[in-house]
Amino acid sequence: MGSLDTYFALVEQNKQEFVERLREVVAIPSVSGDASKRGEVIRMGEWLQAKWEELGATCKRVEPGKQNLDGEILDLPPVILGQYGNDPSKKTVLVYGHYDVQPALVSDGWESDPFTLVEKEDGRLVGRGSTDDKGPVLGWLLCAETHKQAGIEFPVNLKFCFEGMEESGSEGLDDIIIAEADGWFKGTDVVCISDNYWLGKSRPCLTHGLRGVSYFHLIVEGPGADLHSGVFGGTVHEPMVDLVHLLSRLVDNKGRIQVPGIYDQVMAVTDAEEETYESVEFSHEALVADLKNDVLIHDNERDTLKHRWRYPTLSIHGVEGAFHASGDKTVIPAKVRGKFSLRTVPNMEPRKVAELVTKFLDDEFAKLGSKNRMQVVETHGGRWWYSSPDHPNFVAGARAVERVFGVKPDLTREGGSIPVTLTFEENVKANVLLLPMGAADDGAHSINEKVDKRNYIEGIKLFGAYLHEIAATDLAAA
Ligand code: BES
Ligand code: ZN
Repeated sequence: MGSLDTYFALVEQNKQEFVERLREVVAIPSVSGDASKRGEVIRMGEWLQAKWEELGATCKRVEPGKQNLDGEILDLPPVILGQYGNDPSKKTVLVYGHYDVQPALVSDGWESDPFTLVEKEDGRLVGRGSTDDKGPVLGWLLCAETHKQAGIEFPVNLKFCFEGMEESGSEGLDDIIIAEADGWFKGTDVVCISDNYWLGKSRPCLTHGLRGVSYFHLIVEGPGADLHSGVFGGTVHEPMVDLVHLLSRLVDNKGRIQVPGIYDQVMAVTDAEEETYESVEFSHEALVADLKNDVLIHDNERDTLKHRWRYPTLSIHGVEGAFHASGDKTVIPAKVRGKFSLRTVPNMEPRKVAELVTKFLDDEFAKLGSKNRMQVVETHGGRWWYSSPDHPNFVAGARAVERVFGVKPDLTREGGSIPVTLTFEENVKANVLLLPMGAADDGAHSINEKVDKRNYIEGIKLFGAYLHEIAATDLAAA
């Protein structure tokens, strides 16, 4: 039996133990956006470092500094850098993942406690972070552990970079990557990130594109304090009325962004690109089932994919300062803050996007003739990423998929954003492959987030197979 088959057999044998390990990490509520959970996020980073060190890895804990979260000064969770193996005759693979998770409350609608992993009869492993991104982050550790347990030589030198602030904008991470590009990350041949999802539920994919994100706050303020609508309604310019008007001007209900010039920078669709939509596993039927209702704008799969992958979109997220509790309060809020973001695509430039959005809102506000004050602030941004799927890193990924699943992977792009992808590519100067573990219906960021046991276990096999394929690949052929 080849060493990879021995590895697969042992992963198979350890299946239930691996589920227990996932249970252990899901139980650490490492919610980066919640100040009261910061200790848990740090504990999760320390857990990972300890496990890798037990295995024999050398780790470096980098402190990104402090953060001001709603007026509270907090320590940012550590970035855990690691090196597992240092054999100059082997290739070096750098993996990235995040050990923080999105917030989750039973009252949001979870079937069970989000931080207690539940193994369902249909194979779902339900728990916050199971797919985003604890399953994959743990997967790399279990891959290395299983090699050791089986007495199989680890095929590559593995470097890793695990952060605890991804769900809150990766504060401090870019600076660390830039500073370590010629330090800790020196010698990296290829990068692999597992933090996205298959396009469907049955066929694995390799991903070669991500959208960027430009996030804005639109602040409208007027009176010095909230007012009684019975006394002041109809006699003052209401900030909320101005805000609702402005937000409604940004995008129409068919998803078309109304900001002039925004589509000018969008790359045209080529014939070669048209072909890429032909063969992917994607159906509206499955998508509607996941959505629980047919709320799709487009009437065919191709347009849906194009609007997810290669066109910009604008979403309105919320309004701070607006009355939102139950009951009927007759208030005129004095200051409101609308939040919206655009997902950006090749070849949009974030600076140009901000300029166009600001100008449009300024013009629209001027038309209102309001005496309120209005301000547009870009709060954070990440650039889009697009890479050729022909690189040997992708060839190795495709071979690994075929070895584990017996099928060729879909080649996909994503609508979501992982801004650090581009930071690695540009600074570590190595090709990046996105190799997802989870499936389309995992519900990352949503209630009842899950990873299917099959995806989790086969994903751990896939990681091993990929590393063996990289070891056997001539990267100089790039
Ligand atoms: N795992 C996701 C990225 C992702 C989302 C990939 C959807 C594929 C599909 C990641 O944890 C995430 O949510 N990223 C943020 C980044 C943002 C805060 C800069 C996102 O996309 O909103
Ligand atoms: Zn993620």
